[in-house]
Amino acid sequence: MLKFPDNFLFGTATSSHQVEGDNIHNDWWFYEQSGKLKYKSGKACNHWELYREDIKLMTELNYNAYRFSIEWSRIFPRENEINEEAIQRYQEIVNLLNENNIVPMITLHHFTSPLWFMKKGGFAKEENLKYWEKYVESIAELKGVNLFATFNEPMVYVTTGYIQGYWPPFIRNPLRAGKIEANLLRAHAIAYEILKSKKVQVGIVKNIPIMKPASESKADIKAKEKADNLFNWYFLDAIWSGKVRTPIKTYKVPKSDVDFIGINYYTVHEIKHSWNPFNLFLEVSLADLSKRKTLMGWSVYPKGIYEAVTRVQDRYEKPIYITENGIATLDDEWRIEFIIQHLQYVHKALSEGYDVRGYFYWSFMDNFEWAEGFEPRFGLVEVNFETFERKPRKSAHVYGEIAERKIISDELVGRYGLEL
Ligand code: FCB
Repeated sequence: MLKFPDNFLFGTATSSHQVEGDNIHNDWWFYEQSGKLKYKSGKACNHWELYREDIKLMTELNYNAYRFSIEWSRIFPRENEINEEAIQRYQEIVNLLNENNIVPMITLHHFTSPLWFMKKGGFAKEENLKYWEKYVESIAELKGVNLFATFNEPMVYVTTGYIQGYWPPFIRNPLRAGKIEANLLRAHAIAYEILKSKKVQVGIVKNIPIMKPASESKADIKAKEKADNLFNWYFLDAIWSGKVRTPIKTYKVPKSDVDFIGINYYTVHEIKHSWNPFNLFLEVSLADLSKRKTLMGWSVYPKGIYEAVTRVQDRYEKPIYITENGIATLDDEWRIEFIIQHLQYVHKALSEGYDVRGYFYWSFMDNFEWAEGFEPRFGLVEVNFETFERKPRKSAHVYGEIAERKIISDELVGRYGLEL
């Protein structure tokens, strides 16, 4: 039997654009309509209307935490227009969660930005941070939230949007990417200060893909170190050092802090040396560590969650939440196995004294998976995207039982677990 601490959070996670529906004022919506993105989010899960039902379901399933994001473009649909009704709706969501003993964790920025903000250059321009500041100030007024994350996966935002250019705003410009990175750190520092004056816990969510060298050769090992630094460490290091190292230059940013680090963990990459300078002399591919690939094409490597937790905490000595971990599959037995095996490794970290305070499964329900649309099914709860009917899968109940008792039984470990 694996016992978790009594105050451990067993929650689920979502983000605004992926579940709410009709987020017509953000950049993703714009590119969905223009056809630049293959899929349209449309009504998504219609969570903006069905939030009561969704929270009721979370309550029935015994989940005791919920991480969701606020849609900036709902709060400020236009530069100088604040939508008080939207703030009220988020307040109502927070109240409902608290009434049902579900701890809310709010993400301020989960990939989407208001279209008007992007038209002004978005995070590429430091002077635009005044808009961010106004937004954060309006959210700081919410009552009953103790856990805030400023950004979700800042380096994914930087690389997909500004280096590889396959997500909005579809730019391939490493110099611009560096500026964005620096400004996200500045934005974090601004938000940290505003929110700390409200005596709440403020963190940041960083995904930590595990990097493995493709071979034991010196060149591959060096390439792996570089990938790890550029993608995983330099951004987090800069929070305290005030210096962000990018492949082109080093930027000075204000020193800041976090009260916790949120780790999103999904998969493992293989890094090879390359002679291509435009690729920074390295090649990144999905590691072939598991025979079966998820609907995202990802390998499953449960031990990676332990490696991510231990490396991040050894390096920064901050409390950790697993803010996302999940699998896209139609095989729900595989989902159960995935959850149990990853939780076994979270438990191992806990038993070695690492301070992990919670685990949020991605995702509460099937939703709009960005450039991949509605095909990858990450949900504990199945969603019919025509009728918006919700149907908890078996995994939803198995996870609920773990959440309720804070225990993984020997039976579950025996049936789905690994020998550690
Ligand atoms: C993470 C994102 C989240 C979701 C999962 C599958 O990178 O934070 O929105 O798309 O991947």
